[in-house]
Amino acid sequence: MNVDRVRTTQLTGTVSPIYDHDGIVLYNADAFAFLPAIADDYQAVVTDPPYGTGWTSGGVDARGSGTRSKDHTASSIATYEKPEWDVWNTSWIHIVDAYKPVAIFCPDRVLHTLAAIRPTYRLRYYVKTMARPAWRGLDSVTVEPIFISPGPRYSKEACHLIADNGSRGAGKSKLHPCQKPVNVLSWILRGCCHPDHTVLDPFAGSGTTLLAARDMGRRAIGIERDEKYCKIIVQRLSQRPLFV
Ligand SMILES: C[S@@+](CC[C@H](N)C(=O)[O-])C[C@H]1O[C@@H](n2cnc3c(N)ncnc32)[C@H](O)[C@@H]1O
Repeated sequence: MNVDRVRTTQLTGTVSPIYDHDGIVLYNADAFAFLPAIADDYQAVVTDPPYGTGWTSGGVDARGSGTRSKDHTASSIATYEKPEWDVWNTSWIHIVDAYKPVAIFCPDRVLHTLAAIRPTYRLRYYVKTMARPAWRGLDSVTVEPIFISPGPRYSKEACHLIADNGSRGAGKSKLHPCQKPVNVLSWILRGCCHPDHTVLDPFAGSGTTLLAARDMGRRAIGIERDEKYCKIIVQRLSQRPLFV
């Protein structure tokens, strides 16, 4: 089993939420430092951790999880050591109690690591159509696994998820480069989290998980370390949906 090095950061002082309304709470903090402080406040995790950032190493990584290479220069290998990249060492999962359900967007190369940590799981797939509109007019599809443990329990929906990433060029209007459609997150929340549970997204991005939870009348906690995205989340949450 490939148990990753656990990155711990000391949390100094108290962190107050920057948004706390309608059962949705947002913290501008580093998830690694902050997760232990809120261990009792959530019952499930739905998240889309940053990955791909700085993925430039040409060698076998310390986690044995893939060797795809874009660039083999010394500086690129140094990039690999960046904290952003470190996030996908899965160490944050060890901070989450093993009995709490998790749904995690992830690259295929870490599936075996996740399965070693959480042996009872199901996979669902987020299918992005036209994910690369710049490719000379060719339609394209990319598939992103969603690792769900212990597996969807609250919904009878058995099909793999298929969702359109939007029309060609939709990426330009995204608030975050990795923004997910709200309906994809609603699907996950419906299928994987008990309606009475508070769901945590430790890598909130533009806040799609929080938005989906809010629109479904669920409770959620988000953590996002980038102040710029925190502002975007607050802005999104401040806009009420037309139809619920
Ligand atoms: C893949 S994005 C999430 C996108 C989100 N699903 C959405 O729909 O907008 C991951 C986010 O995690 C944030 N992040 C990275 N490391 C973090 C950390 N240690 N603590 C909290 N947030 C972090 C990044 O700033 C980024 O916005």
